[in-house]
Amino acid sequence: MSESLLEYDFDVIIIGAGGAGLRAALLLTEQGHKVAVVSKVFPTRSHTVAAQGGINAALANVTPDKWEWHMYDTIKGSDYLGDQDAIEFMCSEAAEIVRELEHFGVPFSRLNNGKIYQRAFGGQSQNYGESQAHRTCAAADRTGHAILHSLYQQNLRSGTHFFDEHYAIDLLKSGEQVCGAVVMNLHDSQLKRLNAKHTLLATGGAGQVFRTNTNAAINSGDGLGMVARAGFTLQDMEFWQFHPTGVAGKGMLISEAVRGEGGILRNSNGEAFMERYAPRVKDLASRDVVARAISIEVTEGRGCGPNKDYVLLDISHLDGDLVRQRLPGIRDISMTFLGKDPIEEPIPVFPTCHYMMGGIPTNLQAQVVTPDHNSEQAVVDGLYAIGECACVSVHGANRLGGNSLLDIVVFGRKAAQSIDAELKANTRRKISEADNLEVILARFHRWQLAQTTDDSIARIKKDLQTVMEQGCGVFRDLDSMQTALDKLLPIEERLMEVGLNDHSDVFNLDRLAALELENLLIVAFATVQSALARQESRGAHSRVDFPERDDSDWLKHTLYSHRLRRLSYKKVNLTPQHHAPFEPKKRVY
Ligand code: FUM
Repeated sequence: MSESLLEYDFDVIIIGAGGAGLRAALLLTEQGHKVAVVSKVFPTRSHTVAAQGGINAALANVTPDKWEWHMYDTIKGSDYLGDQDAIEFMCSEAAEIVRELEHFGVPFSRLNNGKIYQRAFGGQSQNYGESQAHRTCAAADRTGHAILHSLYQQNLRSGTHFFDEHYAIDLLKSGEQVCGAVVMNLHDSQLKRLNAKHTLLATGGAGQVFRTNTNAAINSGDGLGMVARAGFTLQDMEFWQFHPTGVAGKGMLISEAVRGEGGILRNSNGEAFMERYAPRVKDLASRDVVARAISIEVTEGRGCGPNKDYVLLDISHLDGDLVRQRLPGIRDISMTFLGKDPIEEPIPVFPTCHYMMGGIPTNLQAQVVTPDHNSEQAVVDGLYAIGECACVSVHGANRLGGNSLLDIVVFGRKAAQSIDAELKANTRRKISEADNLEVILARFHRWQLAQTTDDSIARIKKDLQTVMEQGCGVFRDLDSMQTALDKLLPIEERLMEVGLNDHSDVFNLDRLAALELENLLIVAFATVQSALARQESRGAHSRVDFPERDDSDWLKHTLYSHRLRRLSYKKVNLTPQHHAPFEPKKRVY
């Protein structure tokens, strides 16, 4: 099918308008570069808007704090899989970047002395594990919302160009160099060819690959799909965070801020059971530990409700005014979706998929890296990635709450600085002519021509999500994961055969869902294959058949090539640039 593509040239295109993409766009626009942001939804609907509890920085407004303690907590939280140079960089930038956000207009909650309010979150400590720190800077329990809106407003002020409600289909390539992307206007299915000197992926997570999740429907791993189809690798895809407190049976996020403010998890006996699993920090252990504890309580028959399939998050002992002031969002969620006011009744909760620790591998400059023919890590020319879609590896095998908002702004700014420096140093860089346009269009046209069938995209997606939840949940083993892998193959075949119900070109959400499902399926294969191979338990990857961490064989990152359906591995960076290394040791809370 021949067609005319509208064509545009940019210095930089940024795909994704969450906090990471917007932070990067702001700097690049301010530096005078020709920048476009492509956003599947109106930018302020990006998933950053859903981040609740806060952003970590050692401001020491409530408890003594140092960025080095934050670094230690993050490395320990990552179960030593996080790269220590990247973690050092993120934690040492945190205080300054939070002040920058404040100056951008983020309405942080305040202490009586006017300083930014900081609450306790899981896995945070003073003095390398001694006592609880309060490190999470919060705007009530709507911190992501506040950050996203402030960054969007700053971008409007500085004149960033937006392609709103445009969907990125695939990366344009010239040989092994990336030179832009083909995007579709959702309003009328018009394809556009955005040629660019540099392409920055900020497409967010892929939590829709699991049935129960906290993620927006848009979180379909689009950046990961594009990178995999372009022939580059994905990293550490076995590590998925299950947030301990999703609304039971539904999955929406009930922020860790609830436990930070003093909320307590209880089983059917009314027991504050976290005392048995993490005697020192109890409900404020790191997320993987709390999620496993809840699963065990339910599996061993101490769950609540008619089906004994959840536990209770109790804040009835907290002052009602404090809840109204600091946790208005979760009170609203509880009253809207459960008909329960948490000031009076506990909230039924169960772990829910929340965050992808793996993603597109990058270096500290946010450049995408992939193994070359010698299996060394080579930079992909013209391609960068930031935020949840990226894996610079600051979260390793388990992310600490409050480090995600930090990651997106620190590396959003860093990527923009790298690209800005490159554009200024290399003024002769031209936009290369892509050589893969036909392949991209062929994929798109298959969905344009697909006739209606009995099977549907919605049904296949639901089956995929169920397979992933059963096979790769909080606990996994060889059988569960092998069964999942066996079931993914027929799902892949169904996706190749299925047609669409909607054939129009106007806001065709069926076609959009098909393109997204192709990405989710890649994410699923990457997850199961990486998880099957890793014969140990580390962070969020918890294998019943290999319950111990095994540093001698598995202190390494997994790399997955979808094109080759093959795994390889690379070293964890255990050498920070300035601080002394933190040697792996047993992780107890
Ligand atoms: O629980 C929360 O508020 C989530 C925060 C995070 O994932 O960083």
